[in-house]
This record gives sequence, C-alpha cells and structure tokens, in this order.
Amino acid sequence: MPSPDLQTVVAEIAAEMRSRPDRGEVATYIPELGRVDPNQFAIAVALRDGTLVEGGDTETFFSIQSISKVFTLTLALGLAGDRVWNRVGREPSGSPFNSIVQLEHERGIPRNPFINAGAIAITDLILNGHQPRDTLGEILRFLQFLADDDSVFIDQGVAASEERTGYNNRALANFMKGFGVIDNPVEYVLGTYFHHCAIAMTCRQLAKAGSFLAHLGRNPTTGFSVVTAERARRLNAIMLTCGHYDGSGEFAYRVGLPGKSGVGGGILATVPGKASIAVWSPGLDRWGNSHLGRLALEQLTARMGWSIFGSPLATSA
Ligand code: DON
Repeated sequence: MPSPDLQTVVAEIAAEMRSRPDRGEVATYIPELGRVDPNQFAIAVALRDGTLVEGGDTETFFSIQSISKVFTLTLALGLAGDRVWNRVGREPSGSPFNSIVQLEHERGIPRNPFINAGAIAITDLILNGHQPRDTLGEILRFLQFLADDDSVFIDQGVAASEERTGYNNRALANFMKGFGVIDNPVEYVLGTYFHHCAIAMTCRQLAKAGSFLAHLGRNPTTGFSVVTAERARRLNAIMLTCGHYDGSGEFAYRVGLPGKSGVGGGILATVPGKASIAVWSPGLDRWGNSHLGRLALEQLTARMGWSIFGSPLATSA
C-alpha cells in the first residue's frame, strides 16, 4: 500500500473537523475559557526534518492548561531527578483530573504528576524557595526556548479567572500541605500553578515545543538536547498512561500515542521517532479532554499508520 500523503490527510482532517456539528462543551469552571469560540480547530504536525504540516487555525493562541504539566515535570526531573518520585506516584489514577478522593488514602501523595494534585506538588518542587515570579519566568522561557518563539505568553486574564474560582485546587493544595507534601506557602504554589496553566501558545508552537519528546530528548531541528533519551522515554510513558486522566485508556485504545490534554482544548501527542503533533479544539468530552482533538488524532494515526502499537500500513509497505 503506498504511504498516504500527510499534507492531504491533515488538510482533509482539518476540513472535516471545522464543519462537524458535534463539538463538545467548552470548560466553564474557568469563566475566561467559557468565552472561547468552540467553532475553532487546528492541527500542526512537526516532522523530524523540521517541516510543519498544518491545517486550520494554527496561528491562534489558546490556553495550554494541563499540557503545561509535561513541561513542569520535565523541569522538575532536571532539578531533582528521581527524588520527584518521592513526592508523586506514576500510576494512572482512574479518577477525574481534579479528584481529591485518593489523596487521603495515599497520605497526600498524588497518584501521578498530571492530575491537578500531582501537578501542584510538582510546581511546589520547582518553586523550591524561589519567588513565584522567578519560577514562572523560568517555565515561560523554557517553553519559548522549546518552541523557538518568544511570543509564547502567560494570559493574565485566564490566570486571574482561575485564581478567582480555583476553590477545588485550593482544597487539594491545603490538604497536601497538611500532610507535609507541600513545602512553600500554598498561595505561592497555587499562584505559580494557575499562571503556568494559563500559558498561551499556538498549535504550531506547541508541536515544535514537543519535538524533543518524539526524538529521544533532542530537538532534531535545532540540534539542542533537552533531556536524556531515557528521560524522554519515561515522559512518554507517563503521557500514555496518565495524560488523559480517567480517559487515558480510551485515548490509548483509539489513538495509540502518548498524549497530554488540557481543558483549553489542546492535546500534545508524540509519534516516537517521527513527529510531534498539536491539535486544538475548545469543546471537551466528558473527561475534560478535547472532543474533536481526540477524533482528529484518531483519524491521523489510523490513516498514517502511526499508532505505537503497530500499523497495518507498516507490514504491507
Ligand atoms: O487546575 C485546573 O483545573 C486547570 N488549570 C487545568 C486542568 C486541565 O487542563 C485538565 N485537563 N484536561
């Protein structure tokens, strides 16, 4: 079977996703996100040679929300190495992203670094006695460096909106503080967390920023080594098992790639050795993951034979 043309596949997926009536529901618990137009869709595929194949609104900035947790985990591992795993586990939680129920049983140690509790514990680790402003600057500069683009920014309106309504995250953070899992003042940790979730990027920038994950820790275009090959493999493993919360099994079943979602409607996915993919559509499914983003990735992996679990195209090529 001849290999399908990626440009055609991406263009066809973008056209279909732009016009589908089933768009999911935008997140409203962060009021600022509730104002985003759900009729938007973007897909950007960054290939090994640096080529970008794109469709839809790939230059529109959106709130990356929990996708930022992949990058804060990367920074935390750089800072503390395996000591990170004394703070958070690396098992799928099977619970919604904002759940508090497991925390009491597990004595304030979150199941993994991608559920909100885990990401808040990771933010505390990166904060490490510094001022929130300095740590946030470091996270933002890391993303600008990875995307090779200084226009990545923190959307202060989204951060303020979540700060006003973040009661659930305050509960999680205070609970962990009670168990001695959080070192820094809770408001410093949450301020930093809300702001890194409010980082705004385009799909084009996000696909480029994720490139190191697809290529054993090294950005193949710039040649910069970001993490070791072993660490890149492990980050991908956690994305696969925990990146979509209690929808992680469904995502692995349908898409078959390591991926991380955010309630802004973005998903970052990696095709090891081949590509880094960013998709965005603001409407969410019942797990809080992008409805059309997941569908688009499902179609892309099926048509390109990109599932990490094997491809009918590979055997007949
Ligand atoms: O803490 C929150 O609820 C948001 N800042 C991030 C949640 C999120 O993106 C969950 N992912 N699908």
